[in-house]
Amino acid sequence: MSTLLSVRNLETWYGPVRALHGVSLEVHAAQIVTVLGANGAGKTTLLNTIAGVLAPSNGTVEYEGRPIGGMDADEVSRSGLVLVPEGRQIFPFLTVAENLRMGAFARRDAQVAQDIEQIYDWFPRLKERHRQQAGLLSGGEQQMAAIGRALMARPKLLLLDEPSLGLSPLFTKDIFAIIKRIREQTKTAVLVVEQNAAIALATADHGFVIELGRVAAAGSCEALSQREDIREFYLGGASHHLPQVAAGGIRPSRRRSSWH
Ligand SMILES: Nc1ncnc2c1ncn2[C@@H]1O[C@H](COP(=O)(O)OP(=O)(O)OP(=O)(O)O)[C@@H](O)[C@H]1O
Ligand SMILES: [Mg+2]
Repeated sequence: MSTLLSVRNLETWYGPVRALHGVSLEVHAAQIVTVLGANGAGKTTLLNTIAGVLAPSNGTVEYEGRPIGGMDADEVSRSGLVLVPEGRQIFPFLTVAENLRMGAFARRDAQVAQDIEQIYDWFPRLKERHRQQAGLLSGGEQQMAAIGRALMARPKLLLLDEPSLGLSPLFTKDIFAIIKRIREQTKTAVLVVEQNAAIALATADHGFVIELGRVAAAGSCEALSQREDIREFYLGGASHHLPQVAAGGIRPSRRRSSWH
């Protein structure tokens, strides 16, 4: 498996506040990798630093073997690493179809129309509503539009920050099923931050758990799903007492109802 993204000892500060304390992770070609963690753990900071929205003060980000550390977000996205930020950020006054075309702004090839049809095949709801103003779509449909727009750039690596935010479990399942289908069909790698640990671990190949800006656990999703501490804090495990912090284990963290 070839390494597509390699993050080493990444440190990011907001003024005097250090949000990332030396995070390392890898994404291989065509792999789906999930990042789990409590509110404020540093997940968004991590994705934004990888995508060039934030500048790290230490550490390296290599994409396809090239350092992309100092690049700005636009340059990073042109190189094939495309971020769908937290909270979607579609163009609300443009139609769905216009939003999708905006995603292809950097492309000079003749296959844009064909790719839009492919997006409609993955997201039939977007086809039904292609003439509608994107700001009038439901939350889940806006998330589909945001992912569709990112795919129009033909990314090799798609970074998704909480695609299920505000969505019902059923809609979340749909989105993850489509992410999986897209990976099967296009071999696009996906790095996805997700609060719904059950669906993320069931979909992804590999996972990283971030706690207070550090990687607290990493492994195959199968192995992570079986760990007692992960089951307890991220999968709403059966036992109700809070165990002592195991060495190198997961700390008790604020729970969110969406983990249950
Ligand atoms: N613009 C900012 N200025 C100052 N501190 C920030 C800023 N953005 C985030 N932080 C802090 O950095 C830490 C990590 O925040 P981040 O948004 O990366 O967390 P997160 O894991 O994405 O959380 P959530 O699950 O709530 O989205 C938090 O302590 C947060 O308060
Ligand atoms: Mg976040």
